[in-house]
Amino acid sequence: MNLSSPPKLLLGVTGGIAAYKAAELARMFVKAGWQVQVVMTAHAAEFVTPLTFQALTGRETRGALFDSAHEAAMGHIELARWPDAIVIAPASANTLAKLAQGRADDLLSTLCLATDKPLFVAPAMNRLMWANAATQENMATLRRRGITQLGPGSGAQACGEVGEGRMWEPEQVFDAVCAALDSARDLDGVHAVVTAGPTREPLDPVRFITNRSSGKQGYAVAAALVARGAKVTLISGPTNLPTPQGVLRIDVESAEQMLGMSLAVAAEAQLFIGTAAVADYRASTIAPEKLKKSGETMTVTFSKNPDILATVRDAQPRLFMVGFAAETENLADNARAKLARKKLDLVAANWVGEGKAFDTDDNALQLFWDGGGTEIPRAAKAIVAERLVAVIAERYRLRP
Ligand code: PMT
Repeated sequence: MNLSSPPKLLLGVTGGIAAYKAAELARMFVKAGWQVQVVMTAHAAEFVTPLTFQALTGRETRGALFDSAHEAAMGHIELARWPDAIVIAPASANTLAKLAQGRADDLLSTLCLATDKPLFVAPAMNRLMWANAATQENMATLRRRGITQLGPGSGAQACGEVGEGRMWEPEQVFDAVCAALDSARDLDGVHAVVTAGPTREPLDPVRFITNRSSGKQGYAVAAALVARGAKVTLISGPTNLPTPQGVLRIDVESAEQMLGMSLAVAAEAQLFIGTAAVADYRASTIAPEKLKKSGETMTVTFSKNPDILATVRDAQPRLFMVGFAAETENLADNARAKLARKKLDLVAANWVGEGKAFDTDDNALQLFWDGGGTEIPRAAKAIVAERLVAVIAERYRLRP
């Protein structure tokens, strides 16, 4: 990820005795050269004063959602756009519940809803509140959405009990946030091409053959590559998805158009990731006029489409190439066969059919490369994409 210079942190502080640790955390980030803006909830201000953070950060601590003076300067939407990352430490059970529900009833919850920046939470609460099924389900929801959980640790609690629920020490939170943002920069300067979505193979001026790909997995891969610093060109079949931030999108329809664009863009790239569900065949002839209803049956002759991955590989032998494999049987054998046949560096295989992978919000992948492999368990497609891109980045760096 490209951080601003100097980097900017929005530190959310919520109600709990651990709020005092947030002061030390703010000091650490300031000392490391970050601009730090603190946003406190009303409950947090019962434990530590806003003035403490103002003195440490040199910025007025924010708290009120409806504050006309601040809204005229940096309103809550600008505040949501301002930082490179948001860390909520301590994160109370109440705040985790609000984030999981998407509530916007104070400044902190509102700006978390209005941001697309990486969000980290450091939970801190009584051990029974932490163990409660409601809190655990809220935390699982947040993790599924890509929010990073930092802690909690266990030990003696302020309430006199012993157990899990202590906020991580400020150094642990600081190190984890810096490590997460640092590792995210390992594709700086790399140009990645991603194909996504279905292709449409026309039959006549109004009809076409296509498949159920929504583009969600490919768009999530494009977003995850941008987050790690890559320059990304997304060659997309028809989808209803917004273009991920920072991505250059080129729209195509047929497999032949996707191949033409892929060859042109791949010449300038280092990574190529084929998530698109490309039609293997197209109609041999496209009727110039709308086909008329006539006999009881109709025969269409299909011709084989070019294989995009194999053709790009032949044209660009130095490219690091990742293919997907959509399988309804013998997943591992078929995926390994595609790895060899298309001369790929890595294949990401997913089970499809029976409501899996195509047009769903979650996915699971088995990754294969020459002499190895790993699994990415079922999760939201955004999380699966982040994990896949982490493996791709590692394998790309290891390449001779
Ligand atoms: O878009 P979503 O709804 O999020 O669904 C995601 C997905 C299921 C489409 C995705 O995860 C996936 O599996 N994509 C590959 C689908 C596919 O066509 O698989 P395949 O096994 O038929 O093809 C193998 C590989 O060859 C793929 O990388 C494909 O892009 C590529 N290919 C296929 C045919 C062709 N003519 N040229 C190609 O390059």
